[in-house]
Amino acid sequence: MNATSPAPSPVLRLERLRFDYGDGQLLTFPDCEVPAGQHCLILGPSGCGKSTLLHLIAGLLKPTGGHVELAGQRVDALRGASLDRFRGRHVGLVFQRLHLLPALSVADNLLLAQGLAGMPRNRARVNELLERLGVAHRAHARPDDLSFGQAQRVALARAVINSPPVILADEPTSNLDDGNTQEVLNLLQAEASRSGASLIVATHDRRIRDAFDLRLELAA
Ligand SMILES: Nc1ncnc2c1ncn2[C@@H]1O[C@H](COP(=O)(O)OP(=O)(O)OP(=O)(O)O)[C@@H](O)[C@H]1O
Ligand SMILES: [Mg+2]
Repeated sequence: MNATSPAPSPVLRLERLRFDYGDGQLLTFPDCEVPAGQHCLILGPSGCGKSTLLHLIAGLLKPTGGHVELAGQRVDALRGASLDRFRGRHVGLVFQRLHLLPALSVADNLLLAQGLAGMPRNRARVNELLERLGVAHRAHARPDDLSFGQAQRVALARAVINSPPVILADEPTSNLDDGNTQEVLNLLQAEASRSGASLIVATHDRRIRDAFDLRLELAA
């Protein structure tokens, strides 16, 4: 029997990744591997491509070249309904615009996220998560009636509801004061470690750089 076990495969791997919005400006990204459960900060000045990179990782944009492998799956090779299902199960997204559906209650936004990922709708899981994030009393409210901090917690609940191996957050703290920055960071890290997920945060907020295992610096 072979005593050496193979190195665990990384939860995220970027290889020779490039993207062109079609205006002649080619964005190129450094190669990177994030071991399962480790957290990574994507840093760089405004316009360097941080949000673009998160969209490429989530399969919301198709690379011009190179590839993105997430939980062992080439994301750039998936299309249509299989891409949507894969994303729903493997990626939790917390973007700057929170994209909660205004016509649905807080609880229904979370139930929809389960349904879209092909998971059974589980009200107990929804209630438990809202409880833990301190917004259970707003479960029947519409997103437009929440404070910004409450809406951000609901967006975080939606991102983690299917226990994805990767949580992507775009500038989660850039509009917050120091106290709220620490609190949002604590919530993201607590939810990630609860399910063993890797947290990937894009930001130009240098206040949070020391809270991460790995850093990926993008050049201007
Ligand atoms: N939809 C788009 N069409 C054309 N160009 C775009 C589009 N979105 C972004 N860009 C350009 O691509 C580059 C990278 O943008 P991106 O939003 O990824 O940067 P960023 O690092 O997230 O910036 P910020 O810190 O300001 O959020 C910029 O030059 C931007 O102008
Ligand atoms: Mg951005």
